[in-house]
Amino acid sequence: MLLPVSACALALALLEGVGASKGAWDRKLSLMADMGLLPDGTPMEPDLGIAKSLKVSAMTYAEPPPPPEETIEPEYVELPLDNFAKNGDYSWQGTFYNRFWVREAAYKPGAPVFLYDVGEANAEPNALFRLQNETSFFKQMVDKYNGLGIVWEHRYYGNSTPGPIDINTPPEVFRWLTTEQSLADVDRFAKQFERKNINYTLTPDKTPWIFVGGSYPAMRAAFMRDKYPNTIFAGFASSAPTQAKTDMSVYFEPVWDGMNHYGWGNCTRDIQAAVRYMDRLMERPATAAKLKEQFLGLGAASNSNPTFADALVVIFYLWQSYGVEGGKNSLRNFCDWIETDPATKKTAPAKGWAAIKGANYTVSRWAEYPYFTDMVNTYLETKCSGDLTQKGNCDLNRKFTDPSSIAWTWQYCTQWGYFQSANLGPHQLISKYNSLIHQKDICHRQFPTATAPLFPQWPRTDLTNRVFGGWDLRPSNLYWSGGEFDPWRTLSPLSGEPWAPHPRAFTKPPKCGDEQDEDEIFGFVLKNAQHCYDFRTTGITSPDGEVSRGYWYAALDRWLPCFKPKGGHRRPHHWR
Ligand SMILES: *[C@@H]1O[C@H](CO)[C@@H](O)[C@H](O)[C@H]1NC(C)=O
Ligand SMILES: *[C@@H]1O[C@H](CO)[C@@H](O)[C@H](O)[C@H]1NC(C)=O
Ligand SMILES: *[C@@H]1O[C@H](CO)[C@@H](O)[C@H](O)[C@H]1NC(C)=O
Ligand SMILES: *[C@@H]1O[C@H](CO)[C@@H](O)[C@H](O)[C@H]1NC(C)=O
Repeated sequence: MLLPVSACALALALLEGVGASKGAWDRKLSLMADMGLLPDGTPMEPDLGIAKSLKVSAMTYAEPPPPPEETIEPEYVELPLDNFAKNGDYSWQGTFYNRFWVREAAYKPGAPVFLYDVGEANAEPNALFRLQNETSFFKQMVDKYNGLGIVWEHRYYGNSTPGPIDINTPPEVFRWLTTEQSLADVDRFAKQFERKNINYTLTPDKTPWIFVGGSYPAMRAAFMRDKYPNTIFAGFASSAPTQAKTDMSVYFEPVWDGMNHYGWGNCTRDIQAAVRYMDRLMERPATAAKLKEQFLGLGAASNSNPTFADALVVIFYLWQSYGVEGGKNSLRNFCDWIETDPATKKTAPAKGWAAIKGANYTVSRWAEYPYFTDMVNTYLETKCSGDLTQKGNCDLNRKFTDPSSIAWTWQYCTQWGYFQSANLGPHQLISKYNSLIHQKDICHRQFPTATAPLFPQWPRTDLTNRVFGGWDLRPSNLYWSGGEFDPWRTLSPLSGEPWAPHPRAFTKPPKCGDEQDEDEIFGFVLKNAQHCYDFRTTGITSPDGEVSRGYWYAALDRWLPCFKPKGGHRRPHHWR
């Protein structure tokens, strides 16, 4: 297949830096999916029967002729490392330069400023797509309201770092990497924002600022609206796991549910049977060593059970951004392999093959899956041979080397938790050796010299929830959304888990400034969708993506007219 050069370049740029944590891969893959691209950079051609509705929505939005091309260069703002310095003496800890991009082409005086927050990734590979590509929901939004668009890079990611970030960066450097500091950055930036070419006051006292984010950036949308309501006038929080929690084994429950819902139930049963069988094999050192070689080749035997358990998780890496799709490394490929009997070419019935042929059969099929070693090598920065006659460099116990992974590991290990350990129980998909303790060990493997209080033994999730409000947070002028089978919905206010608060979600935009009680929420769960599916208009989408964007637009239409500039008069402006 012929590839547009730009797509390849983007893919390479986004996926550069192997040795990434699952979290960093999640973010990168989500950005790829928003661009309508497969993990390898090729365009997606969904065969899900939803392609038609995609084309329709793309056409509706593409109607107004694109504004003249504008060359957008990255810009930098100097910010204090410590926004909360005593007596406002910010010079003490020094400053850093935070990167951002601005699109002015659609702007008309008086219109809002829209800020798209990239969160825990290098913002560069995605920034211009987000601001300028016709298929970008963010660009469509900025155009619709004649707004000014900003793409914002989070401190300690991409070029917005106080210095180089690699495995040798001393822990003290990360002292200023907290969600609190990063929110204060946006506030400080907004209050001094102006443009040479625009004769209008763009600071939040005169211009409404709208914060748009998916995933961690969605949490930030909610927190900004809560903590800086005079800076951020409204926000869109797509898939926001605002509840900090150390044990996020629940991550894999929506994967189980979704796979069953989409017709891959046999595969879930076989994965479960295989994993449980492997867990028994790993109890004895001799069989454990043999198993690891059977999967990853010579040189894999000495890996610990928990790190081998990490390797078994790679089959799920694409789920949250692509569902069972995603090309070579997709669950579709994997499940077709596991569920097709090579002798008869028959696929397994609903109960799977393990129930008929024994779990050992499924374990062997998995070990023979041609892409498995490749996936492990790609995602975990190894060079396992996958071959019993050839020794590979297959140490699974490695620090992450990708700078975004290092920074995100700092963030989740100190504040947010989100340890994706095994969901033991009826929907188990992950080896029991992927325990909470193992996840905690990964934190300390990455930062071995870091100690409390700078770097706590376990994430301080209780403190985090006290500071930010967890999933009971209900700021006004905020729209929440989430995907039915999104692993991250489990820790968001829209969570359906039995132990979650279950507020009543409604979709008619509330009045401007109306705060909801804890038992209500202005939000929407997209059916047949995973993570941030309402932020894309092409590729793997859900028809509910457009529905969700509609609720957001309806809310903006209701809220924007009641923006009151502080001090002085307000120029009349028609929002559309
Ligand atoms: C917009 O993005 C799509 C999907 O990534 C890509 O195929 C297309 O070439 C981009 N358009 C422009 C004008 O860059
Ligand atoms: C900016 O706008 C104000 C108000 O409309 C006007 O009085 C002023 O002349 C303008 N300045 C420039 C440099 O265009
Ligand atoms: C069984 O697996 C095959 C191959 O992955 C899949 O196409 C089929 O829908 C599955 N059937 C059931 C009942 O789960
Ligand atoms: C499991 O399968 C492997 C490979 O097919 C075989 O060598 C082994 O003897 C089997 N073990 C059991 C307990 O059946």
